[in-house]
Amino acid sequence: MYGLRKGHATVLSTTKLVVLVLLYSSVASSLPNSHPLYFKNSRIDVDEVKTALTEKPDFCHNLECPEYKEINKTKDYEEREYVPTKWISTHLEGVDYSEAIRTMFLKLFDYIDGKNSRNEKIAMTAPVLNRVIPGAGPACKSNFTMFFYLSPSVTNPPEPNDKTVVLTSLPGQRVFTRYFGGFAKESDYVKNAEALGNALLKDSKNFDSSFFYTAGYDSPFKILFRHNEVWYVAK
Ligand SMILES: *[C@@H]1O[C@H](CO)[C@@H](O)[C@H](O)[C@H]1NC(C)=O
Ligand SMILES: *[C@@H]1O[C@H](CO)[C@@H](O)[C@H](O)[C@H]1NC(C)=O
Repeated sequence: MYGLRKGHATVLSTTKLVVLVLLYSSVASSLPNSHPLYFKNSRIDVDEVKTALTEKPDFCHNLECPEYKEINKTKDYEEREYVPTKWISTHLEGVDYSEAIRTMFLKLFDYIDGKNSRNEKIAMTAPVLNRVIPGAGPACKSNFTMFFYLSPSVTNPPEPNDKTVVLTSLPGQRVFTRYFGGFAKESDYVKNAEALGNALLKDSKNFDSSFFYTAGYDSPFKILFRHNEVWYVAK
């Protein structure tokens, strides 16, 4: 998407529409934009890199994504320790998941597309995170917060024009993650969050069950080998 936008600025709004139609959960893109630290088999001496951190995972492809250390891995989940990170985010309350996702995605996309205090374009990254605080019942509103990761190379991010979009940070934190493939729908995320929660309970892991994150790593144009995750934050 970012690539399309660069090459054909005039088709942006069409592209946006296509994206919104196709969008289930999250969108990343394919701008070659990797952090040099992350390249496998590159000429960079890997020993010079903070060796404690896990190598850039394949599912980030050529997008920049936050660094973490893999702490544990079972057949059901992976435990990771993320470094502190900066994000842009927006939140809303709603009953309709897809509608909430579209609205938030568009706001954050506008920000990286230049609707900010310096009219500056910012490269798409991965993952697109969505924090879900489930409502008390089926017809109750859930609280959604969507995040786009800000690369550490964006040292002085411009201010958002949209007052409902904010620059924010997440602390270094430990999360339990569960992966699944395909085009993720709301029900897939919910199902996987349940499975993750059950696996963690079975293993007596301590986590905050009041909310979970969904993490999407792929643009809607990617058909195969899609990578989606749900996360619970460790206590
Ligand atoms: C929803 O989440 C946002 C962001 O974390 C928070 O500021 C807001 O108070 C929450 N609203 C409710 C009703 O919990
Ligand atoms: C990983 O988690 C499993 C399940 O709780 C546990 O048995 C194992 O000791 C853990 N391994 C490490 C290295 O923490």
